[in-house]
Amino acid sequence: MKVVTILGARPQFIKAAALSKALKNHGIEEVLVHTGQHYDANMSGNFFKELGLDSPKHNLDIHGGTDTDQTARMMQALEPILKKEAPGLVIVFGDTNTTLAGALAAKKGAFSLVHIEAGMRSYLPNQAEEINRVLTDRISDLCFTSSFSASENLRKEGFSDPQIFECGDLMYDLFLQNWEKRTLAEGVVLPSRFALLTLHRQENVDQPDRLESWVRELQKLAEEIRLVCPLHPRTQKRLAAQNLNLPAQILPPLSYFQILGLLERASLVLTDSGGLQKESYFAKRPCLTLRENTEWTELLESGSNLLCSPESLAENFRAIRNESHRFPLLFGHGESAQCIAHHLALHLQGK
Ligand code: UD1
Repeated sequence: MKVVTILGARPQFIKAAALSKALKNHGIEEVLVHTGQHYDANMSGNFFKELGLDSPKHNLDIHGGTDTDQTARMMQALEPILKKEAPGLVIVFGDTNTTLAGALAAKKGAFSLVHIEAGMRSYLPNQAEEINRVLTDRISDLCFTSSFSASENLRKEGFSDPQIFECGDLMYDLFLQNWEKRTLAEGVVLPSRFALLTLHRQENVDQPDRLESWVRELQKLAEEIRLVCPLHPRTQKRLAAQNLNLPAQILPPLSYFQILGLLERASLVLTDSGGLQKESYFAKRPCLTLRENTEWTELLESGSNLLCSPESLAENFRAIRNESHRFPLLFGHGESAQCIAHHLALHLQGK
């Protein structure tokens, strides 16, 4: 029973860390292939060490370039590796270029494909992540969803139930297992009250006008609450190119345990990350999502997460600050990895 797991971006290391142990417990051999999409130590290697993930057997060292160029290079490099490893299943996570490259290389090589975190939809057809996730779902043999609404999205698109496995969210498993290990980055002194800010999505930082609007509105917000921001390299490059500064205490990209440490101390989260929206919910912190929409619609329904444009940021900040919030379970019970590994083992045994 052998699987190849293809990963490459920070959120995928987190999900793989939650799943890998369960695969071992089910007697499944896992070969990790790192595309190299994220490569700085604080965006990649440190997560493997901190979360006890095995070193990848193959590292393709592919990053940079346009989305098309990056995806194509990954596919080319993956083809011979998949052929050599000849797994019973290929696993991909989420919605990055690594996800799509892995999915296409797997199916073109006639391997069975597993998509974890399937069925998420922003319904923004030109968004890089939406293209990646829709196409990956379409060619996957097994779709593992994090929530009921993700399963419903797949059913609406004609997927049948034998393909859909609703096992909850791996990120919730990892959160529960590691909350006690939360820590602060060395030497960092935090304000007594602050909002945790992250901003990195292409639609927010790659268009100069949009980035400038965010900086302007965040400046106004910073007069009401201090902001602390671990800065993504994409955003750092774009800010430097426009000679802009975020009105925040800037930190380097943080480890998983350090993000948990900030979440504990933050009174609010402002983010355009899909993963951090969920983690703020798990940590029972309200969240302003700096996007037009979110694929995590159940967070909006809970009332603890509000979508914001630069123009509505101030108003939504006041609205969310004045409410008290509840955080009922939405993404399973923290046993997602066991559930996924169980179904994969059955599949690999031909049952
Ligand atoms: C990717 C995903 C996004 C996900 C994010 C998580 C796609 C289309 N997007 O975006 O969905 O939310 O990962 O972080 O796949 N860079 C470094 N060092 C690194 C990593 C990146 O300097 O370790 C630089 C790259 O060279 C590039 C920029 O940051 O200039 C963007 O990196 P890229 O991997 O293309 O996309 P992300 O913005 O990280």
